[in-house]
Order: sequence, then structure tokens, then C-alpha cells
Amino acid sequence: FPEKIRATDFELAAETARRKLAGDAASDVYTLNGSLPSPTIRVKRGESLAIDYQNRIDQESIIHWHGLIVPPDMDGHPKDAVQPSQTYNYRFDIDQRAGTYWYHPHPDKLTGPQVYRGLGGLFIIEDEEEQALNLPSGDYELPLIVQEKRFSDSGEMTYSLNRMARMMGFFGNTLLVNGMQAPYHEVSNRFYRLRLLNGSNARILDFSFSDNSSFYVIGSDGGLHDRPCEISSITLTPGERADLLVDFSSYSVGQEIRMTAEARNGMGGMMDGMMVGGGMMNDENNNEEGMMGDGMGSRNSGGAFLEFRVTNEEQDPFRLPQALTELSFPNEADTDRTRRIDLTMEMMQGPAINGKFFEMLRTDQKVQQGALEIWEFNNGTMMPHPMHLHATQFKMLDRSGGPLAPHERGWKDTVRIDSGETVRVLTKFDAEKGLYVFHCHNLEHEDNGMMANFEIV
Ligand code: C2O
Ligand code: CU
Ligand code: CU
Repeated sequence: FPEKIRATDFELAAETARRKLAGDAASDVYTLNGSLPSPTIRVKRGESLAIDYQNRIDQESIIHWHGLIVPPDMDGHPKDAVQPSQTYNYRFDIDQRAGTYWYHPHPDKLTGPQVYRGLGGLFIIEDEEEQALNLPSGDYELPLIVQEKRFSDSGEMTYSLNRMARMMGFFGNTLLVNGMQAPYHEVSNRFYRLRLLNGSNARILDFSFSDNSSFYVIGSDGGLHDRPCEISSITLTPGERADLLVDFSSYSVGQEIRMTAEARNGMGGMMDGMMVGGGMMNDENNNEEGMMGDGMGSRNSGGAFLEFRVTNEEQDPFRLPQALTELSFPNEADTDRTRRIDLTMEMMQGPAINGKFFEMLRTDQKVQQGALEIWEFNNGTMMPHPMHLHATQFKMLDRSGGPLAPHERGWKDTVRIDSGETVRVLTKFDAEKGLYVFHCHNLEHEDNGMMANFEIV
């Protein structure tokens, strides 16, 4: 489980290394401060941060604080990428809700490989309101970064892009959690808090437990919900987080509970239902034949990526609260304007935004500072796109393809837009004036240019 940093003033040094991740072979990875995945940063609301990012890998890089609202030059815009052996100095204040945010590299065209090779970690903000709830913490709070990787038969992690992967995203054959393949964790028979991040490059995952037991979602991208909601599965796209409470009290010592993930990407649904597990699966979906042919996975074919072993009896002082927080969303009736964003497929080139590919300094959308806007995403392509806006948290209003899932009812910064769907989000642009990006969080789509600038003026 990732190393923890209590942040105010520190350095993050990105380095290349070789690590054994799955099987016997060592793989080329990038570490931050020697850690893989990157250390968990914990801060309190109101703190000021000084972070020096030292780029000691062999390509340009920059760090973006996903979900944080920081000034434009602190946001990790690709134009700010620094060359190997250079340092970027971040100085910013934390003034937003407690929540499970994260951070990862954001250089133009290189985000996919850098995240894939290991750069990226959780960024946890705490505040007094949340502290008063006495949610499970310390040993009872588990950060879970789930990432799909591809391993060769010899166990080496590989990343290479053919035309199909550029179009669809890079899919793997193995899920790692916190950099490990199918680990187990010893728990007591009590409540745990899981901070779950889908940190995969392209894979949308449906999480549940192998015995179908239920759990509670208490928060999403932008922090706590108004109340816990009991569910038995949750779909997260790359970039999305969920804050979960799991009650192991009905289990007895000696029992094992497995967490599973099922792939949900699809070309019109054809790939839905495929299992990706802690184990290897067949080499199917980076070639065209496989694209069409899979989709027959079943819930018991081994999609478990993490096992909880109950080893301890314990009196649990925690009682699930009825209410968590008050969500003060802006009022839709006060909207200043609606902006339509079309997700388009450009012949032979891949998915784009309003027919255009990313250009570093072209302003694609101009937004008045303080404006309340509805962004309406229309997905005219054959595949889902997780759209992410920097510098803001938003409220999902609706999706044309069906009701919002429970975790979609809180503050969000990344939203799944299925093929053919229209999704509307309501957001207020209160960040400092300047240039920010929004993009698809399928990292190969992003690297291929499915990204655009918006300027707050
Ligand atoms: Cu998590 Cu612009 O990214
Ligand atoms: Cu972001
Ligand atoms: Cu996309």
C-alpha cells in the first residue's frame, strides 16, 4: 500500500526503475520518491503547499492535481511541462471540500505512458466537517488505486500503441491494485473506508464483491455526499473516484471476500461483460478480431483483483451516519449559458472535441469568471468517453441514456458519456483567470488530441 506523505513542503522526484510487478520478469517503471504507485499526499483544507517536482525521467513531464482548483500555472497544463532534469515549483493553497483527489503527469502526448509506467497517486484533502463524522481512518481507511496493465507471457509490463490502441485506448490483461497483482489484505470484522480510484489508462470498470454483498457509497470525485447510499456495484471510468464504506461485520474470522472488476468499455456494448482479473486473460482486445469477439465473460470467471481476509474480531465503535454533509449545489435556474460540446470521430484520426484536436495555445472555449454554465456533452462516437474538466467541480444534471448512478449525485470532475448519449453538467467557473484544459480521460484519446483549452476571462 502506497507510502504516505503529510504535505506542506516537499519534493517529488520522478525516476526510472525496474520493478517486478507480476510474474517473474522486471518491468520498466517510473517511480515518485522511489515509490510505486506514487505516495499518497494528505493535506488539510486551509494548508498552503510547496511542492517541487523534479523530473528525472527521460521525457518532459509536469504534474496535474486532478480535481483540485488551483491557479492556471499550478494546474499542470501541458504547456508548462519541464524537460528532463528540470524542476517545476508548485505553490498553492488548499481551499476546497475534503475528498479523494489525485495527481498524475500531464505532458502533451505523453500522459498515457507516464501514468501507465507508474506516476500517479492519491491526493487526500481533509476538513473539520468530515473529521467530525469519525469515519473509519488509519488502518481502517484503504487507498485503492486500480489500474489495468498488460503483461507479456514472461511477466514484463508492456505499452505500445498501434493504430487500434490510439483509436480505442490501451487495454491490458491484468489489474493491479496499488501496484500489486491480486494481493490480499487482512481486515477486522468491522467497517472500512475504501478510497477507490480507477487509474487505468482506458478501461472502464464495474466494481463489486464476488458474493454480491452490498456496500455504501459516501462520496465521489469532489467529496462527501449528503447521505450514504447502499449499492452492490459501481462503475468508474479512468479518472473517477469513489469513497466507499464496507461493513465486514457479518463475516467471521477465517472468511475471505474478494473484490472484482468487470470491463465495461464497449463498441456498442460488444465488449461489455468481459472480465479482467488479477490473473491473466487472453490477448484479445488490442487486435481487431478480439474487438468483436469477446464479451462472454461471466461474473465467476475470476475478475477478483483484491482479497480481504478477516483475521480479527473487533468491537466496532463506528455507526453509519444517516447524513454526511449538506450539498450546496448552484441552482440550475441561475445558469448564464449552455455550451454544447460534441465528441466526434474524425476519419482515420480518432476521437476529437468539436471536430478538433488539441493545440497547445489555441483557446477553444472562453468562459467568464464566475459564470454558471451548463456544459452539454454529446457523444457522437461509437465508444464511451470519460470527460474531465480542470479547475472546477460540477453537478451532473442528467444523462439521456438513463438515470444517474448513486455516485453520480455528488460533486464530480469526470463523467462517463456513453456512445450516443447526451450528458449535461452544471458548473461554476470560480477559478483564477487563465488557460485550463478539458479532455477525455481515456489517456490514449487525450494523448491523441481529444483535449481542448478553455480560458477563464
Ligand atoms: Cu486527471 Cu487533465 O487529468
Ligand atoms: Cu484534472
Ligand atoms: Cu475518449
